[in-house]
Amino acid sequence: MEMTVSVNDNINGTLILPIVEGTESIPEDCERGLPQSMKAQINKVLGGGDFKAKAKTTLSLVGGEDGNIILSGLGKGDAITVHDYRKAGAAVFANIKKIHGNDFTVRFMDAGVAHMAAFAEGMMLRDYSYDNYKMKDDDNEEDSTKQIRLACSEKEAGELTSLVEKYRGIAKGVHLSRDLGNCPPNDMYPEEFADRAWEWAKQYDNVEVSIINYDQALKAGMGGLVAVGKGSSRKPCMVIFEMNKDIKGKCPVLVGKGITFDTGGISLKPGANMDEMKYDMGGSATVFGTMEALAQTGHKGKVVGITCMAENMPAANATRPGDVIKGLSGKTIEILNTDAEGRLVLSDGLWKAGEFNPEYIVDFATLTGACVVALGHEATGLWSNNDGFRSRIHDAGNAVDELAWPMPLLPAFEKEMTDSKIADTRNLGAGRWGGANTAAAFLKQFVPNVDYDKDGEQITWAHMDIAGTYWGAKTNNMVKNGATGVHVRTMHHLITQG
Ligand code: BES
Ligand code: ZN
Ligand code: ZN
Repeated sequence: MEMTVSVNDNINGTLILPIVEGTESIPEDCERGLPQSMKAQINKVLGGGDFKAKAKTTLSLVGGEDGNIILSGLGKGDAITVHDYRKAGAAVFANIKKIHGNDFTVRFMDAGVAHMAAFAEGMMLRDYSYDNYKMKDDDNEEDSTKQIRLACSEKEAGELTSLVEKYRGIAKGVHLSRDLGNCPPNDMYPEEFADRAWEWAKQYDNVEVSIINYDQALKAGMGGLVAVGKGSSRKPCMVIFEMNKDIKGKCPVLVGKGITFDTGGISLKPGANMDEMKYDMGGSATVFGTMEALAQTGHKGKVVGITCMAENMPAANATRPGDVIKGLSGKTIEILNTDAEGRLVLSDGLWKAGEFNPEYIVDFATLTGACVVALGHEATGLWSNNDGFRSRIHDAGNAVDELAWPMPLLPAFEKEMTDSKIADTRNLGAGRWGGANTAAAFLKQFVPNVDYDKDGEQITWAHMDIAGTYWGAKTNNMVKNGATGVHVRTMHHLITQG
């Protein structure tokens, strides 16, 4: 898709008209350049009540003598937000058919630049399909590049252009996250992720990627990463992204769970839907996608990303339930269930994060089925050791319409996870209740203090469980299916504006 801003009155190709509920005819200031027949056709439909402009609806008028039209519903006038505009843009894009051609002009009715840009953002976000593994089809509607012109006034053009440019960059990050998540697990394994990150970094002068391979991880004492990944022929690794690394001072550090496939290991998962465990690297894809969004939008601050990559397989040399390991932090972990592996790789990633002088640490993980039980596919679980920081993330999520719901980090859960008979911690709760909370409480044991000072204060940290939101979110209308790329936009907002 190519999105441009245009100040002339011409309607190129199919006209897209976002409309507020209750509009009975095209307002005068929106008529510029509209052929008489088109105007009549639209006014007939609106006046006759044939298109109510309910939120996220569209009506396609094709075959008219002056060209095709897509009417796009925004919902009720007084309550329309940027989110409604974004959803309307996505709904329009989802309903584009071959007959609409490849050229489009969007004409807004007194929308305001922020709303116009949000509509464009919705179109860009929805412009995604993953068909790398499908035979090319000559008839494929999605093959040709669409040209979308956003009509606006001269006064609006500058601001609209820069917002569209920003959203284009962020959408690239979201789509990268989705590409990584959708990739089948035979082709997406720890070293492949690392290779892609390495190749990706070459296009930016201000980004560096370094890889801690299996041997180095062993040597460094990354016992959690090694315990999870050693049973696979695809060995684990840690990938570190550094943006603007020469800038002095504290910076955000993002940590991602990157299990490229989670069989459960020796604590093998049941067969049903196990294929979905290819998405268990969604947290690492969120980190990588956020780095892309920041790089694309020219972020000037320092940011670090750490992804903990491993494939969790059952094997003769796999970790057993009952094994006790020691990771980077020096704390020992009794592994009671090898399917609770995300927290093991993250324990090393979180501890490693302390080396980068974090302003704060945020981790992303498809961590627990229990989080999906609690929140369904509608919200990410959000925990933090700092109430103010938790609110900031919640607000950043709301600002971009990605819901992150506050969950409790209670001392009782910490007690449960440090109550091993033989080790400092255990990777499984005492019972099955509150499984998302016990997982968060376990992670907290591995968040370092500032400067690793054992009497110091713990680094500000938040944990985001995206098990329910990284895929399978049917009500997310920025996404048709597969990986959602959730929270790239939240993090971009938090880091650049939050
Ligand atoms: N990757 C899974 C979590 C998961 C399950 C995400 C279903 C999305 C959908 C994770 O590694 C896992 O298996 N967690 C276990 C933890 C349990 C053994 C304490 C779970 O949630 O059952
Ligand atoms: Zn698991
Ligand atoms: Zn997992």
